[in-house]
Amino acid sequence: MKIIIINGPNLNLLGKREPEIYGVETLEDILMWLEKKIDSEDIKIDWFQSNHEGDLIDQIQSTISLFDGIIINPGALTHYSFAIRDAIASVNTPTVEVHLSDLNSREEFRRVSVIKDECISQISGLGKQGYLEALKTLIHYI
Ligand code: DQA
Repeated sequence: MKIIIINGPNLNLLGKREPEIYGVETLEDILMWLEKKIDSEDIKIDWFQSNHEGDLIDQIQSTISLFDGIIINPGALTHYSFAIRDAIASVNTPTVEVHLSDLNSREEFRRVSVIKDECISQISGLGKQGYLEALKTLIHYI
């Protein structure tokens, strides 16, 4: 089973970026932690981060026939990118939406996810644990 973890704008700054909200670990720390949690040879994880919407869309499109599932944290694009929503709908690859912070306890604009309806589930507010929960969700779903 091949899973890709796609992270959007500003998530490359994890560790430095608003640590009181997003924690002190870098994106690499989180992904290395996740890799260690996987106890099956059958699960392969790839990951991609970009600050550019089009690059994220290209990456989502490239999942067709290459990946069995997507874990995506689109950052702020979550709240307004209909293009990312359409990309997820177009590829038909099971997708789980993840957010480190709890969207519902933050600013009003963060409560809206335009991609949510195209995902099999949304996980928010669990920090890095959310990525592991997303992986478990995909494994059960696929
Ligand atoms: C985020 C939440 C978004 O609202 C924000 O724009 C991010 C990170 C999260 O992981 O909590 O960049 O997706």
